[in-house]
Amino acid sequence: MNAWFDSETFAQLRARRGISWGERLDVHDVTASTNDCAFEAARQGTAEGAVFVAGRQTAGRGRRGNRWLAPPGENLTFSLLLRPERSLVELSQLPLVVGLAVREVVASRLSSMAREALVKWPNDVLVGSRKIAGILVESRLREGDVSVTVVGIGLNVLTARFEGELAGSATSLSRERASIPKEHALEELLVELLDSLERRFVRFCRDGLESFLPELSVTDALRGRRVRIGEVTGEALGIGDAGELLVLDDAGARHALSAGHVEILASRQSRPDGTA
Ligand code: BTN
Repeated sequence: MNAWFDSETFAQLRARRGISWGERLDVHDVTASTNDCAFEAARQGTAEGAVFVAGRQTAGRGRRGNRWLAPPGENLTFSLLLRPERSLVELSQLPLVVGLAVREVVASRLSSMAREALVKWPNDVLVGSRKIAGILVESRLREGDVSVTVVGIGLNVLTARFEGELAGSATSLSRERASIPKEHALEELLVELLDSLERRFVRFCRDGLESFLPELSVTDALRGRRVRIGEVTGEALGIGDAGELLVLDDAGARHALSAGHVEILASRQSRPDGTA
């Protein structure tokens, strides 16, 4: 029994929702990275849907070699083991679909007066301009085929104040005054996330990214904003059919970018249709 996470409560909530993922749940007080736990379990033949959750990671990682920092026991830090029969190109679109699932859960907990929860291409969820969740999808190949995909998610839940390098850029559900239960918040949120992820993943494997494009368009944190990504500076136009970020640069050239870190340079300009 872990003080910060009750597996029994999780199992009951999961059964009530009827989701298939999370039947195997490994809870670690401390581990290096839950993504590594998932890869190790995959190596031992563990089936799709296993979940690995940690109170604290000593080497939590983000994209592009960044660290993932989270105060211990207050937030959700977990990884999900998947075995999708999809190409690497298709799997590169998965973080956006995961972002939609996380955003849905975050938004469902925010009051109508709160700042909006949005997906920031390619793998973050923001509330206003602050990051509330990060997503790291990693795949390992066997003989040219993808054999294992691990979806790692860090969602800030209970941390009221962020210190140091996170002070100006991070937020949490508590900080946004979201409605979260006083007891078993992490267990409830994990079940909701798995439910939302499982539904979208099934649809992604069946219909591809295309069926998510309308939802991505209305929850896009970048559309209409002035951004810098690598050498390109201009206005973000939205997300393309293959999951690329479309940018109109200052010289009037269009770019379809498939990777990179986006810096938001200015707040949203109003759109021609009048929406903010
Ligand atoms: C990012 O913002 O660049 C992605 C952050 C992903 C963090 C999660 S926490 C659970 C899982 N284990 C890790 O080591 N990283 C991911």
